[in-house]
Amino acid sequence: MSDRDAGGSADEPADRDAADNLPVRRVSDWDADRLAELAAEHDTPLYVQDLDRVRENCERLRDAFPDADVRYAVKAHTGRAVLEAVREAGLDAECASAGEVDRALAAGFDGSRLHYTAVNPPARDLDYVVGVAEAEPDLTITVGAVDTLDRLAERGYDGRVCVRVNPGVGAGHHEKVRTGGAAKFGIPYDRAARAAQEAAERFDVVGIHAHAGSGIDSDQLDSHRELVARIGELARELAEPSNNGMSPVDLEYVDVGGGFGVPYEEDAPALDLPAVAEATREAISPLPAGVDLAIEPGRYVVADAGVLLTRVNTVKPTPDETVVGVDAGMTDLLRPAMYDAYHPIRNLGGGQARDGSDAPAPDDRSATPVTVAGPICETGDTLCRDRALADPARGDLLAVGIAGAYGYEMANQYNSRPRPAEVALDDRTAAVVRRRETLGDLTTVEREANPDRTGRTDRTEAGR
Ligand SMILES: Cc1ncc(COP(=O)(O)O)c(C=O)c1O
Repeated sequence: MSDRDAGGSADEPADRDAADNLPVRRVSDWDADRLAELAAEHDTPLYVQDLDRVRENCERLRDAFPDADVRYAVKAHTGRAVLEAVREAGLDAECASAGEVDRALAAGFDGSRLHYTAVNPPARDLDYVVGVAEAEPDLTITVGAVDTLDRLAERGYDGRVCVRVNPGVGAGHHEKVRTGGAAKFGIPYDRAARAAQEAAERFDVVGIHAHAGSGIDSDQLDSHRELVARIGELARELAEPSNNGMSPVDLEYVDVGGGFGVPYEEDAPALDLPAVAEATREAISPLPAGVDLAIEPGRYVVADAGVLLTRVNTVKPTPDETVVGVDAGMTDLLRPAMYDAYHPIRNLGGGQARDGSDAPAPDDRSATPVTVAGPICETGDTLCRDRALADPARGDLLAVGIAGAYGYEMANQYNSRPRPAEVALDDRTAAVVRRRETLGDLTTVEREANPDRTGRTDRTEAGR
């Protein structure tokens, strides 16, 4: 089996135990026995999120950007334990909805550390966040349309605002996550200065913001640099408006967004974070006096801290391919179906051959190209196609790597499938942080709306 088949890493140091805070944790770096124990105890599909690794990722970001305000983009993983770990590591929080603001507050972030990014915000969200801001006046609302500013003013809000700019430059791992050039996001660059100046007459405009997209790798650094340079230029223009007759805007920060990529493919190099930080500093300089840099990484903080464990339940050779059926699908991990995303998969073994005997250890099996497919009735419900894995057997445990970002967050109940459980590892202790949903959970809101038509059976009562 090749190194790649086994999930081996291109940048693996000779002595892993001695290596501290690796730039990426590959699926091959997880302790296979520990994962097998967790799957046996908590069943599959199961997310495992390692809080120590979350802390390491926060530390690496803070080391690379020592002068910047680092804001965790909560949308990548909203679990309470993760939020608490991130807060304790000293990061602030960037929230995309009222729900995320609520979760961040519950996890102990105080209002002065919260940034709410309003994208076509539903009235309910604005009402909630404006209400929070009454008690937490240092909370900042990032706004990407003049209409949204008007809606805030209508609610009596005159507090801290950051103006989101559409920099005209996008980047990211897939067209669907390149926000930078998409008209949906931010005020067009050439109108942004005036919008910020006019906003400053009604609000306390403290920042400007732009986000290129998600999953930017070293090859897309030029786009990142261009975005950063453009937003730096805007900050200078706002500090000293030349001849448009408007007053300067006294900014506290320039937020250049998140998007720092992680290497999903086993042989892809880790992002050179210090190089990205250096390129950012160079491109943004000189910032006006008193204006700080801010960044908003989500994926980078949590992606390689998580794996999804799933069990093989069917092995079906066909003339075209061997289909390996597993108990996790696109409802548990949507990224492959949604973005054609690659996730590394490692066979941890433990299954049986067709005659009922124990299958050999994965290292002793040949590598076989397979399609790994979930239980959802959709052709797109595959975790990988034509991937060489240690020949899977029924009962094998598969670890799907780099699943900590936008994994559980995008999980849903399509096909009436309960969402999986999640376990958090903290200094080697494991705790269930999200219990597995039951069949009863699937109909809770329906039953609450129609108590006379419960539709609940004794079997759902039992939860399976
Ligand atoms: C405004 C904003 N900031 C930060 C992020 C985080 O991106 P990533 O998880 O790729 O770092 C996103 C992701 O969509 C975003 O929309």
